[in-house]
Amino acid sequence: MTTATGHKVALAFEDGVTQFITVPPGQTVADASYRARINIPLDCRDGACGTCKAFCESGTYDGGDYIDEALTEEEADAGFCLPCQMQPESDLVLRISGTADMAKSSIGQFTATLEKLHWYADNTAGLTLAVDDREKLHYLPGQYMNVKVPGTDEERSYSFSSGPGAEKLTFLVRTAPDGVMTTYLKERAAEGDRLVLEGPIGSFFLRDVKRPVLMLAGGTGIAPQLAMLEKLSASGEAPAFPIHLAYGATWDKDLVEVEALERYAASIEGFTFDTIVADAESEHPKKGYVTQHLLAEHLNDGDVDVYLCGPPAMVDAVRKYFAAEGITPTNFYYERFAVGVPHEHAVHPGQAA
Ligand code: FES
Repeated sequence: MTTATGHKVALAFEDGVTQFITVPPGQTVADASYRARINIPLDCRDGACGTCKAFCESGTYDGGDYIDEALTEEEADAGFCLPCQMQPESDLVLRISGTADMAKSSIGQFTATLEKLHWYADNTAGLTLAVDDREKLHYLPGQYMNVKVPGTDEERSYSFSSGPGAEKLTFLVRTAPDGVMTTYLKERAAEGDRLVLEGPIGSFFLRDVKRPVLMLAGGTGIAPQLAMLEKLSASGEAPAFPIHLAYGATWDKDLVEVEALERYAASIEGFTFDTIVADAESEHPKKGYVTQHLLAEHLNDGDVDVYLCGPPAMVDAVRKYFAAEGITPTNFYYERFAVGVPHEHAVHPGQAA
């Protein structure tokens, strides 16, 4: 959101932690980071050394003055930039070299109240949380939070399914046999419970739509895609290129929030989606795996940004499918999740390939 006092800039670190700063008119990104006590890599502060070099994932800016040794023309054309010189002309998302830890910037801690626990089916729950200090929690659509499981020392990671502007936060939870979050939700959870969350985290977030977009979701992997679609819908602007979502599930009951997808198909120009069920007994019109229902127009000869969120087997299957089809997507961002394991093993940052 652009405010009267400046542009909002997301600083996405290599460890997946993201911090948001506001850059007032006339200030550089480095100035504003410094004032926010976030020590992004800096040396000369003069556009001479290249130490601060970052990559702009989205937004527009005035690159400022610098010499070729710090940033070549090719690098600038490719999207690299120098925070010590650049001044935002819109909200930005910058990929910063180094970790948040190195920048002496700790991950955000939040408390929230469980407002609603909704069971879509016996294996999928939806949580609605009212976060204290909501105005201090900024996130990019596609990112996740670590949620401490009440009554335990453990935490689990869940992607926001709500858009960044939503007052209440929503998450989808796939249950796991004897999982700590599952046990909490099924046996102890009550509306009004207090929860502790950390984040936002993750580099699986929506970039500017610069070419056709193909979203692939498996099971509760639909959550981050819902957040992305909400962001696109809320912008009120028609994306410059078509966006297609193929959403697969094992059983019919695993397909959730299809009504929301229908609303997005009506509100986002050029957005289409398919739902696909793997169960051989299902009477769903589209059966099998998501890759069996992709058309040439969705792949666009590889000139496509792919966002994939699903279990590890799905991520592997999609990679193999692209290889077999001879398709190398321009950008391939993915998030793998496994049910019922802590985040260290459960979530891998999206990657551009
Ligand atoms: Fe040297 Fe930015 S700190 S170029």
